[in-house]
This record gives sequence, structure tokens and C-alpha cells, in this order.
Amino acid sequence: MEHRVPLIAGNWKMFKTCSEAVDSATRLADLVSDIENVDIMIAPTFTSLAVVSDIILNTKIDLGAQNIFWEKEGAFTGEISAPMLLSAGCQYVIIGHSERRQYFGETDETVNQRMRAANSSGLIPILCVGETETHRDEKKTFSVLDKQIEKGLEGLTLDEQHSLVIAYEPVWAIGTGKTATPDQVQEVHAFLRDLVGKKFGNSLANATRILYGGSVKPDNVSELMALPDVDGALVGGASLQPDSFSKIIHYS
Ligand code: PGA
Repeated sequence: MEHRVPLIAGNWKMFKTCSEAVDSATRLADLVSDIENVDIMIAPTFTSLAVVSDIILNTKIDLGAQNIFWEKEGAFTGEISAPMLLSAGCQYVIIGHSERRQYFGETDETVNQRMRAANSSGLIPILCVGETETHRDEKKTFSVLDKQIEKGLEGLTLDEQHSLVIAYEPVWAIGTGKTATPDQVQEVHAFLRDLVGKKFGNSLANATRILYGGSVKPDNVSELMALPDVDGALVGGASLQPDSFSKIIHYS
């Protein structure tokens, strides 16, 4: 099996002013200075990207954005493009988070446009997929995920290693304190890797990092990271406090 460097990513959502973000990033950089062989990413709000980028330069932490628009520039009030994110210091961008799908009208089609923009610009996209509780109850989990992956990755040219990250985030586990069981997580991650393999071939599937997200905490991260197809975590609530996020990063 391919060796995939784990990625622990913090999604700060709509939390922290610029100065709070700077404080948290400074503290986190200090706490994780000993880390080897784990990639670390934080995704502050757009307004904090540039200042946080300065703080984490030459540290173990990379920068991500929480969304991206597909045009490079133009009359699109309120939107942010790939060149802007790159110029603010971003390496990663989270795309299709369930909160965007749920509250802001994100669809598989718009997710795909964002994926293409990120991919062609050199940003590493983190494609978020996940079923709702109703989908799971109705046994639609795999068909929903299949569609999200199929549509999300449509038309993408993915030939570089590690250029794709997928985050499996069951909607019912986000911010609820409910984590999917290890069996549920492994079953879905193996299914997702298989889908990527069918679409792009086994070598890309083996290089793709599949993160789990949904109430990841210091006390459940090790069990999740031990699963063969879990290559990292996308952490919301527990990434806001540098101490708890550092504990998650030090999972092993
Ligand atoms: P949570 O959020 O860790 O607070 O459940 C995860 C996410 O939304 O990425």
C-alpha cells in the first residue's frame, strides 16, 4: 500500500477576528513545532488569511481557504478567486462543505466548477462529501456519495500525486458530538477510494488522502487514524482551541 502522509486540517468556519486568528496560529505553530510526517492545515476566514499566512511562514502549518469562486476576476461581488487565495498564501481550499451545501445553495454542479478552478490553479482542493441522517436511514448513503464524487470530480485532470484530498463528513456527525463508528468510517473510506480508482486509476486512488470529519476530538482521533483508509481529519470545533487541535495533531 502506498504511503500517504496524513493531513490534519482545521476548519475555523466563521470564528475568530484577525487578531484572534493571529493569536491562535502563533500558539499552534509553537505547539506543533516538533511534528514530523504529518501535514497540518488551518483554514481561517478570508479576512484572516493574509495575516495568518505571515505568522505560519516557515512553520509546520499550511494555509487553506474555506471556499473559492471559479472565475479569476470580474464583477462578482463578494467572491474570491484562486489567484487571490494563492496570493494570500493558501495551498489548500475546502470545497463543498455540507454547510455550504445546506445553507448557501451549493450543488454538485457548483462544487465541480470550484473543483476545476482550484485544480487548474495549483491549489489542493479538499472535496467534502457526506450523507445526511435521512440518507443513511433510507440506505442511500452510497448512492449519495457516489453522485457527489462523480459530479464533483467530473472533467478534472488529476495526474499529480497528492493533488486530491477528499473529506468524508457525515452531515449527522458535524458539530453534534456524534462520531461515525470505526466500521462505518472504514466502509465509506474504502468505497470512496474504490470510486476514485475506477475513475482515475489505482495509483491516483492510492495517493488520494481521504480525511474523516465530524466531531473529531483528542479522545477519538487515534482510533479513527488507525483505520487503513483514513488519512487524516477535517476538524471543526476542536480546531478552534490550539491546545485541543495540537492534541489531535499529536494523535500517534
Ligand atoms: P466538527 O466540524 O469537528 O465541529 O464536527 C467538522 C467540519 O465541519 O469540518
